[in-house]
This record gives sequence, structure tokens and C-alpha cells, in this order.
Amino acid sequence: MSTTSSTFVATDGEGYERLMGRWSRLLALPFLDFTGTADGDRILDVGCGTGHLAFAVARRTGAGEVRGVDLAQPYIEHARHHNEDARIAFEVADACALPYAAQSFDRVLSLLVLHFVPEPGKAIAEMRRVAKPGAVVAAAVWDVRGGWVSNRMFFDTAAMLDPEAGARRARNYTRPMTRPGELAKAWREAGFKGVEETTLTIRMEFASFADYWGPYEGRDGPGAEYVATLDDDARGRLREAVQAAYLDGEADGPRSYAALAWAVKGRAPA
Ligand SMILES: C[S@@+](CC[C@H](N)C(=O)[O-])C[C@H]1O[C@@H](n2cnc3c(N)ncnc32)[C@H](O)[C@@H]1O
Repeated sequence: MSTTSSTFVATDGEGYERLMGRWSRLLALPFLDFTGTADGDRILDVGCGTGHLAFAVARRTGAGEVRGVDLAQPYIEHARHHNEDARIAFEVADACALPYAAQSFDRVLSLLVLHFVPEPGKAIAEMRRVAKPGAVVAAAVWDVRGGWVSNRMFFDTAAMLDPEAGARRARNYTRPMTRPGELAKAWREAGFKGVEETTLTIRMEFASFADYWGPYEGRDGPGAEYVATLDDDARGRLREAVQAAYLDGEADGPRSYAALAWAVKGRAPA
């Protein structure tokens, strides 16, 4: 994986599924309600990960063609392995240097990616370049600071135990494109027409604390990246403190946390 075009640690497709794929699959639905779909479209999923947006848009769209690109080879392999639709193809590519001709897609979509691109303006310019005139170009990112309860529980707890976690929390909650209005501003500056921003909501349903905590002991995403730096004692202390936040003094079992994403759409200019 290129380290210059992505700040997301991407190692293991199955690990990503437990961390995020199970939620991006849910978020893809209101995102597509917002972007709209049309039969026969040629669609690009930028930063497709393990492919949930590409799969969801193909399910909604008759005929047409879907391309998914991501920097992470393991995610692309996972997506290919689970793809049963001949209209969808996945390839490794950088959002900042898309391997497609100008004006070649009817819809250019990106789910939970732009906050992990250090220079998101480059990716947005590429999304505009490959969009046909009038094409819908849309993106969503988590409202990491204000709208993601389960992630807050982890980073707020970790920051109380370790200043390094506090520094990581600050980086995590000030990622590009995650402040109110930031996506819409970037879309207008990129020249898109009829720009609209909205908030999308899903609920993250965990079966138990083990289900919630497991991905933090994995190898993908910012939380696991931090946990991997801890020795066994520090990891145990963190796990115990986060568990207390999860349990709220009640028995272990299911918990449901709201998660909000910012979404933007506009039309590529003629
Ligand atoms: C949180 S995941 C989202 C994946 C997928 N869109 C989803 O919703 O499940 C972020 C993804 O962005 C990808 N990514 C980050 N920067 C990228 C870039 N410059 N080009 C392509 N993919 C990128 C990462 O490899 C990772 O798969």
C-alpha cells in the first residue's frame, strides 16, 4: 500500500469486514438513496475497500458496469473473491491517479475514503476528471468528531490512560473533510454544480463486548494501529476500561450505537 496517498492501515480483508465492512454495507444503502442510481450507468467506486458500495449499487442498477478501485491489494482480493456479478470489476489504483479516461463514468462515488487521503483535493479533482458532464459525483465520510459513538468510547477512554492515545485521538477527529460543511465547500471549489450536503445515520449493533472489541486487536484501521503499539499490560488496562464503558454497569450483551456520516453530491460541469 502506498503510504503517501492513504493514512488508513489496510492489511486483512476479513479483519476489515469485522472492523468496518459490516457497517459500510449498511451505510451504502442511505448513501445510494442520496446519490440516486440509474439503469445502464457506468459507475466508479473510489476507495472501494472490500466492495460493499460496488455490490450495493450493482444490485440496484440494471445493466451498466461497476468499477471499484482501492490502494489496498488485500481488500481488492477480498472483493474479487466475493464478487459474483460479471458487471463488477475491481482493481488496485490510487484515487489521486485514477487509471481511466476523462469523462468516462455516469456516476462517481466514494464511501468512507476521503478522510484517509492526505491531499483529498487531488482525489476530488480525479473524481471530477473521470465523470461525464452532468454525472453525479458523491462522497461520504464519518462524522468522526461528533457522530460516531462507538469510536468515541474507544479513543476517549484510551486518551485518559495514555497521552499518545490523546495525540492519536486528535489526529483521528480532525481528519480532512470531516468538519461540518467541509465536503460541500470542497465540492463547490472543485466546480461541481447543484452541490448538496446531508447527514446519513446508521446504527452499529454489537452482539457483545467481545464483538465490539475484537477489531481493535486486529490489524486494520486507526484503533488497531494504536493497540498494536501497546504491551500486554497496557493493552489489558485499556481493554478493561473500554469494557466498563461498553457495559455501563449492566451485564454483557448487545449494544446499539448511532453512527453519522457526512455526505455530499454534485454534478460534474459540462
Ligand atoms: C474505511 S475504508 C472504506 C472502504 C470502502 N469504501 C467501504 O466503505 O467499506 C477506507 C479505504 O480507503 C482506501 N484508500 C485510502 N486512500 C486511498 C487512495 N488514495 N486511493 C485508493 N484507495 C484509498 C483504503 O485502502 C481503504 O480501503
